[in-house]
Amino acid sequence: MNKKDIHFSVAVYNSAEELNPNDEALLAAAREATKNAYAPYSKFLVGAVAALANGETVSGTNQENASYPVGICAERVLLSCIATLYPGIAVHTIAISYNNVNGDSTHPISPCGICRQSLAEYEERVNQPIRIVLSGLSGEVYIIEKASHLLPLSFSASDFG
Ligand code: THU
Repeated sequence: MNKKDIHFSVAVYNSAEELNPNDEALLAAAREATKNAYAPYSKFLVGAVAALANGETVSGTNQENASYPVGICAERVLLSCIATLYPGIAVHTIAISYNNVNGDSTHPISPCGICRQSLAEYEERVNQPIRIVLSGLSGEVYIIEKASHLLPLSFSASDFG
């Protein structure tokens, strides 16, 4: 029996002010984008903003529904918009923030399992890693260099052979 260790690094910053100017601006846009979320049920408003390789910026927010399972996370709204507006274009960085109306919004949250799967497939599709910047409306910022690091041993298109 052999053991295989799987690990990745997260860069931790005390606040947005410590980021490089591009990441700081992208995170500010994600924080602002939370205002466009439609989350009347959870009151958990998520904003995700992508900086694309072609210089464009695209944003996405979570969109809920009275029929709860119909709701879509901000990350998958964002990826769908990008793939439709700019097919085949690589995503350089995605900043994700949230406003938890009934709680605090001061620590980073990271994408849910379904969104991790979607992010990993987008990376594979355009063959470029996506950097992920995570933070609440204030407080610590996490940066992950490759979205698929969040989904080790994942199932992907390559498994079809
Ligand atoms: N949500 C996102 O949009 N992204 C995440 O990474 C986590 C959760 C949304 C889904 C739902 O509308 C609300 O946040 C509460 O789960």
